[in-house]
Parts: sequence; C-alpha cells; structure tokens
Amino acid sequence: MTGSKILSVGHYQPPRVLTNDDLAKMVDTSDEWIRDRVGIVTRRIADNETVADMAAAAAEKALAGSGLTAADIDLVVVATCSQVDRCPNVATQVAGRLGIRTPGAYDINTACSGFSYALATVDHAIRAGASRNAIVVGSEKLTDITDWTDRSTCVLFGDGAGAAVLTATAEGEPPGIGPVLWGSEPDKRDAILMEGWHPHIQQAGQTVFRWATFALPDLARRACAAAGVDPSALAAFVPHQANLRIIEPLARKLGAPNAVVARDIVDSGNTSAASVPIALSKLVERREVPAGALVLLFSFGGGLTYAGQVIRCP
Ligand code: ACO
Repeated sequence: MTGSKILSVGHYQPPRVLTNDDLAKMVDTSDEWIRDRVGIVTRRIADNETVADMAAAAAEKALAGSGLTAADIDLVVVATCSQVDRCPNVATQVAGRLGIRTPGAYDINTACSGFSYALATVDHAIRAGASRNAIVVGSEKLTDITDWTDRSTCVLFGDGAGAAVLTATAEGEPPGIGPVLWGSEPDKRDAILMEGWHPHIQQAGQTVFRWATFALPDLARRACAAAGVDPSALAAFVPHQANLRIIEPLARKLGAPNAVVARDIVDSGNTSAASVPIALSKLVERREVPAGALVLLFSFGGGLTYAGQVIRCP
C-alpha cells in the first residue's frame, strides 16, 4: 500500500504583537506570573484577518515550497475550532483562494489536537487511493472567542495558521507519516468549553494540566512505538504548545535526548490546532531539523482529545 509524506510546510502569523505587559493593563496579571506559570512572553493577534485568511496564507506558503501547483492538489483539510461561520467551510475558502479547482474539502474540529487528526485522515485518504496530493492546515483565531476580562484564559491564546503539503510516496519508498495514535477522554469533555452562539473559551486549567502531565508521556511513547521508533532516534519533538510547564517535563519523560523540542509557545502563545504546524514550520525554516529526520508530533486539547504521529521532516 502507498504511504504519504510531507513535501513542505509553511505558516502565517498576524503582525500585531500583544505582550504580557499589554495584558497587565487589561486584567489583574503580570509578566512574571505569565512567564512563570505558562512560559508565554508574546502572542500574535489577528485584527481583520479571519481563520480562512490565515489558513490560505499558510497554505500558499506551503504550496510554494512543495514543487507542486494548485492543479496538482485534490484534497484540502483544515483543522479549526474557532471558525465563526458554519458555511462555507474553511477548506473550500482556502481552495478557492489558491485556485484549486475541484478538491475534496472538509474541516475537522478536535480543538487543539486538530492538526494531528487532520494529518492522519489525509494520510489515510492517500493510502486508500482517495487522494494523491493534499494540503492540511491548522488555523485559529482564538482571540475572537476569548473573554478579555477573564485573566485565567485571556493571557493564554494567540492567532495564526500552519500548513503542510502531502503527497503519495513512490512504490518501495518508506512512508513519511507513521501510524497515528489517537484517542479521547469523553468523561473530561467539560474541561474545555466553547459553547453557544457567541462562545468564550472556558477551561478547568488544573484538570487539564494534571491530566496532561500524568497521561501524555505514556501516550507520546505509544505514538513512537506505533511507528516502531525508539524516542532516542527522534531529531525533534513538536508537542501542542499549551504550557511550557507541560512541554518540558513531557519532553524529559519521553526520553528523547537527541530531539530539538519546540517551544514556540514563548513567542506565539497557545494557537490551538495551529500550534503544531506553526512550530514545525519554524523548525524547518530555521533548519533546526535535517530533511528526512524523525519528528514526533503530539497534540491534545478540548474533548479531551489527543493524537500524535512520527513523521519524516520535509
Ligand atoms: N495572572 C495572575 N494570576 C492568575 C492568572 C493570571 N493571568 N490566572 C490565574 N491566576 C491566579 C488564580 O486566580 C489563582 O489564584 P488563587 O490561588 O488566589 O485562587 C492562582 O493564580 C492559581 O491559579 P491556577 O488556575 O491554579 O493556575 P495554574 O498554575 O494551574 O495555571 C494554567 C493555569 C496556565 C491555565 C494551567 O492550569 C494550564 O496550563 N492548564 C492546561 C491548559 C491546557 O493544556 N489546555 C489544553 C489546550 S486549550 C484548548 O484545547 C483550546
């Protein structure tokens, strides 16, 4: 059976920077509290840009680096939980803007774990012969649904998008995307909420934090095992960027001493489904990971949902 691989990645972040000191003028918080408890220094805020604008910008960059053209793409998938309009979906808007004529096009919502879920479904579509070349995007404008009077959430989130172009591997070529380890904890579904027509993000931070620090190391190791990869062979680890106090112990417990660990939360905050592809794209852009090297992507979020897979770096 043919596998798939990532040809190229790209990301887009809006230009406006919001610092911790800016936030301290809006709510009762401080630069020190945010750095100590979460690790964020700045985040990007979209003003007029929509989820679709940012998704299209990231997808355009990824496509430009892929060696393919819009005419080659037959599937577009966008992971997002912050798209306000229900129809048309973001995937068709991305396809329309990039001049991709008749692709399969759908959105996925598993909150912050969305990119890994989307990547898996596209890999499966390519393996099944339903697609040959695809674009996968994670795009979020969480600041649209942020309660700017709630200090426990408004300091956490940022906006942006990241994208990857996938293609089928040649016959005999090893797959560039390993089996997905995915799952959920429905009994914790109330821990992160974006409910109603005009939602605000609410979360039981301690519940999510305790679950993440307890459960994720084993799940991340299982994602490696699914690909037959020992964590010591990883060149990079790109976890969801929710909290540096989750990322750093997780990286230690994973046991991947040779892996560059993505810490984009410092500059970008939590961008939900966009955090993994933005962080991966920056590692590639800065040439911190060699092409072909093994990278573990692992994301988690509302639901609670989680998903991860080992990929080969584009
Ligand atoms: N500034 C100053 N003080 C604050 C702030 C703030 N911004 N926010 C909360 N506090 C206060 C609280 O009021 C509390 O004060 P008290 O002790 O007087 O009652 C104290 O700080 C501690 O609050 P906690 O909520 O216990 O703080 P914690 O150390 O747990 O940090 C955080 C909160 C950062 C949210 C953490 O729990 C976390 O990262 N949780 C996981 C989040 C996550 O991974 N989410 C998944 C993805 S999100 C998605 O799917 C969209």
